[in-house]
Amino acid sequence: MMARGRIVGTGSTTPRRILTNKELESIVDTSDEWITRRTGIKERRISSNGRGENTSDMATTASLKALQMAGISPETLDMIVVGTVTPDRQFPSAACFVQKALDAGKAMAFDVSAGCSGFLYALSIANNAIGTGNCKNALVIGAERLSGITNWEDRNTCVLLGDGAGAVVLTPSTEPDGILSTHLRSDGNLWDLLYSFDERSKIPDFLDTIETKPFFLKMEGNRLFKKAVSCLAKIAVRALEYHGLSCDSVKLMVPHQANLRIIRAVAERLDIPMDRVYTNIEKYGNTSSATIPIALDEANREGLLKPDDYVLLVTFGAGLTWGASVVRWSP
Ligand code: ACO
Repeated sequence: MMARGRIVGTGSTTPRRILTNKELESIVDTSDEWITRRTGIKERRISSNGRGENTSDMATTASLKALQMAGISPETLDMIVVGTVTPDRQFPSAACFVQKALDAGKAMAFDVSAGCSGFLYALSIANNAIGTGNCKNALVIGAERLSGITNWEDRNTCVLLGDGAGAVVLTPSTEPDGILSTHLRSDGNLWDLLYSFDERSKIPDFLDTIETKPFFLKMEGNRLFKKAVSCLAKIAVRALEYHGLSCDSVKLMVPHQANLRIIRAVAERLDIPMDRVYTNIEKYGNTSSATIPIALDEANREGLLKPDDYVLLVTFGAGLTWGASVVRWSP
């Protein structure tokens, strides 16, 4: 029987600095009331330059927690793959910096760029490598420092984004558990709904510890919102039907955290009650590739995931890219 990846450890981290909606009121024309009502976000975490909170630093911290939970040492890793659109440098990859920090000499290491869907794309690649026998132990990470690519003068986007990282450790399983499948889609025709614009953002004085990149994110939020809801709902159904499962079988849906209203609309379309949907967007905002592994780690550490539970991961992001993964939680 072909093996598949089983999640044996999860870990996550976010920077110490909390940026509240109230603070944002002092830099753009917005209000705590508007942000909370339209997005569900109350606060987000912001990395500080020089505090060891770069993308690969956060990825390493999250990975160490996941490896500790898994009881696996870094030198046994065959693959390190990071979903990110904000690596420390254009190259080498964030994954290579993680490899160095972990001293994981045996692993192949590389990044995957798929917008907010980066973690699910990375998970799929690692799972397939385990399935073909090319790889045994894999570390899959979603890590972002979006504060460095935020336009701090644009109220349409700066209220949404945050920094953080999450990681999972996969080992092979021949039992009927683990990553059962991942369905991935993309549509490059819609690239201009969310893209990087070549201009450096001006930083407000009180956020001067942010290190900016020479581009920032531009988004057409309203069109993206509608597209997100329909794509997420459709791919979730396709992924479940592939295994002969219904939405009733889903013990916990862990969606990409872009907007609480998107999450609620998808849950409603799937007829999954919100008490079976994990959300933490109020604390972290949208951390792109990091939202799902952070949420998965928090749900796991809160004891919400039991052996044999079906967990549905759904994501959506720049590209456009989107996807869904069905996981049967492992003992
Ligand atoms: N504070 C106050 N008012 C605001 C703010 C703000 N922060 N932002 C926008 N507004 C205003 C607009 O200017 C507009 O005013 P107008 O009617 O006078 O023109 C009004 O609010 C309504 O704007 P909409 O864009 O229609 O507001 P909407 O309800 O769609 O919410 C939002 C905007 C939150 C961006 C939403 O569209 C959204 O979440 N879209 C999807 C985002 C997403 O999924 N992104 C993908 C991932 S992001 C990534 O990859 C990193």
